[in-house]
Amino acid sequence: MSIRKPIRMVVKGLKRWLLDENQTYPEVPFDNRDDWMRFAYLKLNQDPVCNRRPWYIWGVLQGAALSKVLGIEHISVIEFGVAGGGGLISLERAAELTEELVGIKIDVYGFDTGSGNPKIMDYRDVPFRWSEGYWPMDKQKLEKLLHRAQLVLGHTKDTIPEFIRRKPAPVAFAAIDLTMYSSTVEALKLFEAEYSLLLPRTYCMFRSLLGSRGDQCDYIGERLAIQEFNAKDTMRKLCHMDGLRYFVPNYINEGSWPEFFYLLHIFDHPLYNKPSSLRQSINIDTEGSEDIKEVPDTINDSIAEQP
Ligand SMILES: C[S@@+](CC[C@H](N)C(=O)[O-])C[C@H]1O[C@@H](n2cnc3c(N)ncnc32)[C@H](O)[C@@H]1O
Repeated sequence: MSIRKPIRMVVKGLKRWLLDENQTYPEVPFDNRDDWMRFAYLKLNQDPVCNRRPWYIWGVLQGAALSKVLGIEHISVIEFGVAGGGGLISLERAAELTEELVGIKIDVYGFDTGSGNPKIMDYRDVPFRWSEGYWPMDKQKLEKLLHRAQLVLGHTKDTIPEFIRRKPAPVAFAAIDLTMYSSTVEALKLFEAEYSLLLPRTYCMFRSLLGSRGDQCDYIGERLAIQEFNAKDTMRKLCHMDGLRYFVPNYINEGSWPEFFYLLHIFDHPLYNKPSSLRQSINIDTEGSEDIKEVPDTINDSIAEQP
C-alpha cells in the first residue's frame, strides 16, 4: 500500500484539529441565509462521518433550508451511483443531523445497479476512463451499515420511472455520480417529473464533471447529458453554480468540489417566485448598513402567481 494516503489523512486530520481549536459555534436562529448556513456547516462538519464528504453537507443543508422556508416539511435526498457506499453513508448522516437542526423529515435514497457500471454504449460513455463492471457493491455489507437510506437497485432506465410512480417526497438534493453519459441521461429524467416531486430550485452535484485532470468535455459523459437536458424546449434548466467557492466557508472549501454544483431551476414551478429566506435586506443606508427584516406576508401572497 502506498504511504501517501495515510500521510494525506494524517495531515488532513491535523489541519482540521488545528482549525477546530479556533472555531466558535455561536448558535444562529434558523433562516436560509449565509450566517445560519455557516453555523450549520461548521456544526455538521464536526461529525466524523459527515466530514468525509463536505459536499454532501452543503447539498443537504441547502436543500433542506430552502424547503423549510418554502413550507415543505418532508424531502428526499439522493445519491445516484453508490458503489461501495462510502458516499451514501455520509449522505445519510448529513440527513440525520440536518433533520434535527432544521426540523423537517428527510428520506435518503441510493441508486445503483448493485453490480457496477452497466454496458458501455459508445465513446460518449467515456470508455477511456471506466469500463463495464467497475465499482460493484457488496450489498449485504452496506445494508448492515445503513440506518435509514434505501437502496434502489437496477439500471436507472428502469428505476427512475418506477421511483417517479411511487411519488417520493420532493427531491431537494441529488448527488449524481454515475460517470457514464447514457446512465446520467436516464437519471436526469427524474427532473422531468411533476412539480410536487421537485423543489423550484433543486440542488445537484455532478461528481465526474471534471474527470481526471480536466479530461471531460461538453461532448461526452455527464456534461453532454446536462447539455442535452438544457437543449429541451422546457422551463427547466440545469445551471452551473458559478462562483460557489466564494460562498462556501474556507474551512470546508477543500478541493474542487464547489465546481461540481448545479442548480435545477424550474422557472414555472408554483413556488419559484416565493422568497427564499425568512428575512431579507430591505434598506441600505448612506453608511452601507443594511436593515434586515422579516419578509412581509403580503409579498409572499402577491408573488405566488405565475405568468
Ligand atoms: C464512481 S461510482 C460511485 C461512487 C460513489 N458515489 C462514492 O462516492 O463512493 C459509479 C457507480 O455508478 C453506478 N452506475 C453507473 N451507471 C448506472 C446505471 N445506469 N444505473 C445504476 N447505477 C449505475 C455503478 O454501479 C457504480 O457503482
